[in-house]
Amino acid sequence: MKKNSLNGINVGMLNDKHCMKKYYAKIDMQDLEVIQDKTLKYLIKIRSQLENNSAFQVFLWKPFVEHVPELLTAFDHLNMEVTQICAFFLDNQPAAPHRDDTLIPIRVNVPILNTTNTFTCFYEPKDPDTLLTATLQPNGLPYNTYDKHNIQLMDQCEIIEPTLIRPQEIHNVETVITNPTPRITLTMVLNPMPYEYFPDIELNDRIPYHELHKMEIMEKKTSSLWYKPDLKY
Ligand SMILES: [Fe+2]
Repeated sequence: MKKNSLNGINVGMLNDKHCMKKYYAKIDMQDLEVIQDKTLKYLIKIRSQLENNSAFQVFLWKPFVEHVPELLTAFDHLNMEVTQICAFFLDNQPAAPHRDDTLIPIRVNVPILNTTNTFTCFYEPKDPDTLLTATLQPNGLPYNTYDKHNIQLMDQCEIIEPTLIRPQEIHNVETVITNPTPRITLTMVLNPMPYEYFPDIELNDRIPYHELHKMEIMEKKTSSLWYKPDLKY
């Protein structure tokens, strides 16, 4: 047997395959339809309190789970729990590719309304030194976007079932003008971080949930009211 080969299969190829980057993964969630239904009713109820003009909304933990208690047990069968609940609202305006300003490497996205025929696209820079174009969101936070000429599409998914995505990768949502709006997804954080769905994430890079949580609180100064209060680490 030649060095570096295994039954005719090149070990390098095996490694490449094993390490092939995954940008998203489907995940099983309990009570999906009830959660979708109650979430939509809750969003309609609180719509006047939603922060104006911001596509990304972070919710206070307590009132949300009081209205949608099924979220508390939705991932029990996988020994995971939801720890933060956000939603992303999109009209049919083109959204520039960007990386989310977060330390959390994996989020679960759940379709709530009008997600069919919309695609979450993931990209890599053509040149690793590609510069970001910084713009400001209506809430004043920086929003770093990429020129489509400088990136290439790697993969895409339609969020029509619960899906884990990697928000630190360059991504956007492609939609078409004739799609009904608003497109609404819940986007939530899970504990523990579901690294096992992404074999390409190196063991050394798998920072435990509680450390990420601590860093997010410290660096982003997010409110603890946005997190599940009795986290089990
Ligand atoms: Fe994003």
